[in-house]
Amino acid sequence: MAPPPGDKKASKVNQESTPKRSISSVLFVIAMQTEALPLVDKFQLAEQSDSLFPEGVPWMRYSGKYKDLNINILCPGKDKKFGVDSVGTVSASLLTYASVQALQPDLIINAGTAGGFKAKGASIGDVYLVSDVAFHDRRIPVPVLDLYGVGARQAFPTPNLVKELKLKVGKLSTGDSLDMTPQDAAMILANSATVKDMEGAAVAYAADLLKVPVIFLKAVTDIVDGDKPTAEEFLQNLAAVVAALDKAVTKVVDFINGKTFSEL
Ligand code: ADE
Repeated sequence: MAPPPGDKKASKVNQESTPKRSISSVLFVIAMQTEALPLVDKFQLAEQSDSLFPEGVPWMRYSGKYKDLNINILCPGKDKKFGVDSVGTVSASLLTYASVQALQPDLIINAGTAGGFKAKGASIGDVYLVSDVAFHDRRIPVPVLDLYGVGARQAFPTPNLVKELKLKVGKLSTGDSLDMTPQDAAMILANSATVKDMEGAAVAYAADLLKVPVIFLKAVTDIVDGDKPTAEEFLQNLAAVVAALDKAVTKVVDFINGKTFSEL
């Protein structure tokens, strides 16, 4: 159901609509604080308790200057009722929308962990630069609404970044569950996904609404088509994989620093 690769209609943001000057501000959307905090340290960002957002929202913002870039890391924060990270598509799209409106970044980077498919070549600790995103749990079997449900979009193309950092490239499928039902599996297969997460396509939706280019870095904590229980494997590998993710993110930021969109 996803459009064929290279379908220009899949994303509205292209190189013609991006600034010609060097990229100066980058907004990270990172669902889990565990994933974000090593980057906050690395880029020497400061927690901001300002009034960019409505009072009482749990969203966290860390900001500062790293090299020539203004960096903001946004996390959806702890759910008010349950005290856990507000993972998933609802908070990711709200946070992306509100923080882009407030901060007007040049580029969004959605970084986080993901499940990987060994049948597509994924291994624990791999970090993928995502080419395309789509949803796998929005089944609407009505003409055209089916395509809206899948919500296929393309990441901003970064051929030089891929080549220079020798990153693995794959498609990402997003849903609001850590596990995978047989129906999800069929949709993920139709989406040709190598990695599966809980935020990417929702961040892409908000980025597309506001016409801000977005890229995705996803690190594999668990093998979805393997024999280990997903939640157990995820928790077991989380710390080590977050270290690999944050190393890759730093290299990507170093690469972006001083470059224009057309140099990516
Ligand atoms: N994040 C890490 N592993 C995941 C999985 N298997 N599914 C969705 N999101 C994930």
